Amino acid sequence: MSRETLIDLIYLVSATTFLIALKGLGSPKRARWGNLTAAAGMLLAIVATFFKYVDGHALYHVPLILLAMFIGLIVAVPVARFVKMTAMPQLVAIFNGVGGGAAALVSITEFVHIKATHPATYVILEVLLGVLIGTVSFAGSAIAFAKLQELMTGRPVTYPGQQFLNAIIGLAALVLIVIILVSASTVLLWILLILAFVLGIAFVLPIGGADVPVLISLLNSFTGLAVAASGFTLGSNLLIVAGTLVGASGILLTRLMSAAMGRSLPNILFSAFGSVVTASGDASRADGRSVRSGSPEDAAILLGYASRVVIIPGYGLAVAQAQHVVRELADELEAKGTEVFFAIHPVAGRMPGHMNVLLAEANVPYEKLVEMDEANSELQTADVALVVGANDTVNPAAKDDPGSPIYGMPIINADLAENVLFLKRSMRPGFAGIENELLYNPKTTLIFGDAKDTLTKILASVKTA
Ligand code: TAP
Repeated sequence: MSRETLIDLIYLVSATTFLIALKGLGSPKRARWGNLTAAAGMLLAIVATFFKYVDGHALYHVPLILLAMFIGLIVAVPVARFVKMTAMPQLVAIFNGVGGGAAALVSITEFVHIKATHPATYVILEVLLGVLIGTVSFAGSAIAFAKLQELMTGRPVTYPGQQFLNAIIGLAALVLIVIILVSASTVLLWILLILAFVLGIAFVLPIGGADVPVLISLLNSFTGLAVAASGFTLGSNLLIVAGTLVGASGILLTRLMSAAMGRSLPNILFSAFGSVVTASGDASRADGRSVRSGSPEDAAILLGYASRVVIIPGYGLAVAQAQHVVRELADELEAKGTEVFFAIHPVAGRMPGHMNVLLAEANVPYEKLVEMDEANSELQTADVALVVGANDTVNPAAKDDPGSPIYGMPIINADLAENVLFLKRSMRPGFAGIENELLYNPKTTLIFGDAKDTLTKILASVKTA
């Protein structure tokens, strides 16, 4: 067997591991294993590439490539290891951005490289699409990172004629691509690069922080397409497969997230959602209604009498890092004969699977994590719905108020339970910035405070009861 055939076979094995990994990522139980499988496949492909002959020559610049890989490793490994779970979306944004940027760089060098050989039009088109999509993804991801990291305002940045202007920039980029196809001009390639950069920034500016995770998933899909385009340019089947998988799964995830938020993708991308905060954030509202608040000890008494408790976690669980103590509380209640499970909303938190990852870290058994639809059918018979740092995902306005910005978003029906214990620090709204009627429901008792502190106190009271 020739060296090239062997390397192609290794690439085939790598591509297969990516498919197996995607299957694994479909369930919280196998996600970690899936990730490791893909990483092993990638390592295999990288090692094989060092033994590849390019145009009859062994790989050039090996020491430089190794140095670049080393720099990447010493930056990425500590960042990935020590990043807080709450900062994960911006980490994904920046990693995605560098992927898009790398694909664009490959396309630019390939353009300069192949220009003199008068390649077929479709070859130049692949290169130009790589530059355009990769750069849009790079610039857009950088703005998404800045928004989530609060380096700039998370609110939509809008100005008159914005969408029209964006459409003109997009159109200009496409016209430029047609001209470059005919002229093969390097100067125009640089202008395309600048336009793509501006487009990436302009596209993301009007998208509010609330919608940025969906945007990141879309940009991730763009990066996949840019990588696939680089794969065509370099004649690498593995890059084509990997890029297409990222592109397809990114777009599917984007659709799933949009559906779970009850909104269409165009609405997310173009409506500047989140520019207006509609809730006061005060402890009492203008119409004079007040809420009922209680102590952790009151909560412990209610939980002590319950035979069925549904815990509904949200973003506040991640902020408070309360996953371990909530598991301890669930264990303690179960030891006392109470049935307990966790109701998981698909967009609770700030990234897909956020709650699953947190609760898995605290060793909550997977069978205790019940998905939204199933949880909703069980909530009517629950004695207590314990809401831990969730807000929008339990807001009844999503089903009752056609004027609400989140109307149509599927929610976990905490209000169906006999009693609701609501753990949060203040009356501030959730991510969507809107008032939650559930806080004013007579069934609801609010326990104000950091979720970890409150749960620790509830646990201590339950233990001594
Ligand atoms: P949110 O609606 O964002 O509410 C989080 C709540 O946690 C807030 O009310 C906050 O109130 C409370 N909180 C924050 N820190 C806390 C702490 N240390 N202790 C106790 N409570 C704390 O959360 P959710 O219900 O998970 O909803 C997620 C939102 O994100 C949805 O609107 C969803 O559409 C959006 N979103 C999610 C995703 C994905 S993929 N997950 C993607 C895009 C958008 P206080 O400040 O008063 O404590």
